Amino acid sequence: MNITEKVNSIREELSKDIDNIQSINDINNLKVKYLGKKGLITDLTANMKDLSIEDRKIVGKESNVLKNEVETMLNNMLNEFNNRELNEKLEKESVDVTLPGIDIPQGAPSILESVIEEFERVFMSLGYDVVDGPEVELDKYNFELLNIPKGHPARDAQDTFYIEGNEKLLRSQTSAVQARVMLEHKGEEPIRMICPGRTYRRDEDDATHSHNFTQIEGLLVEKKDISLSDLKGTFDVLAKKLFGENCVTRFRPSYYQFTEPSVETDVSCFACNGKGCSLCKNTGWLTISGAGMVHPNVLRMCGYDPEVWRGFAFGFGAERCAMLKYGINDIRTFYNADLREVGSFDRKEDI
Ligand code: DAH
Repeated sequence: MNITEKVNSIREELSKDIDNIQSINDINNLKVKYLGKKGLITDLTANMKDLSIEDRKIVGKESNVLKNEVETMLNNMLNEFNNRELNEKLEKESVDVTLPGIDIPQGAPSILESVIEEFERVFMSLGYDVVDGPEVELDKYNFELLNIPKGHPARDAQDTFYIEGNEKLLRSQTSAVQARVMLEHKGEEPIRMICPGRTYRRDEDDATHSHNFTQIEGLLVEKKDISLSDLKGTFDVLAKKLFGENCVTRFRPSYYQFTEPSVETDVSCFACNGKGCSLCKNTGWLTISGAGMVHPNVLRMCGYDPEVWRGFAFGFGAERCAMLKYGINDIRTFYNADLREVGSFDRKEDI
């Protein structure tokens, strides 16, 4: 058989094979049969080296033409099959627009952080700065400048974690920042600041105690005749913003070393409107901070002349406020980071 005859016989075989194609798989098999390494067309040029130059030219040309022909044909068939398959699929399938969508979980602000921001908004509107202080603190700021000298029994209730010897500790109260801010202002400038921040105590963790918790400290110092009624007015503004316009406030006498006089500040129970319920233990009141007029000793030690300057200070428990506001009964909820738990009191109104 000469080359032309061989080529023709391959063409005939191919045309029969093509008629029998049923699937994409058949097409791929034909690709191997004709174009593969041991395929019929490759085979045509197997003995090229034994041929004369003239014959080589003919064989090369004929086999090339055939190869291109086969490639085009099979590729066309492949496209046709692919399109057919796609069309069949599209016809069979349809999109059901009534199916429920995929629920993408949505985050919400941490409620502790939100309560702190609410404090910041209220106090900034009253002209206060929001300041920061170190969590690793010196005994001097945490205790001594606050009128709690070494050996004072008031230190027992604020036992904390010591970093180095007796002087460097994790602050047990954000009140330490009061001393820092007063010293910074050198007894010359009035002060209005709040300081939200983490505090530490060697408490056993339970539903209402945590060795790590958050306080919001506040300090106002002015040359004017500041009195407890200014503190009461300030506290009123905050309480109404935080717990609603109907909220009423009261002071109860108390004792802190760095304030004189000192008070506990209560808000009327918003769950029962002061009638008495389980939240307020039937008292009608909820205590949310300690406060008082800055003690003259503290003013003096921190560079302010108590004959000229007066001020008030307060310290809120941030978790306590958030727990009351959102009906949470375990402080550990804030630190567990358990989404099942946190999700149940997400701030839906803010989403
Ligand atoms: N530092 C106090 C505490 O941890 C809270 C406090 C009470 C802060 C009275 C004050 C204050 O600034 O005047 O118990």
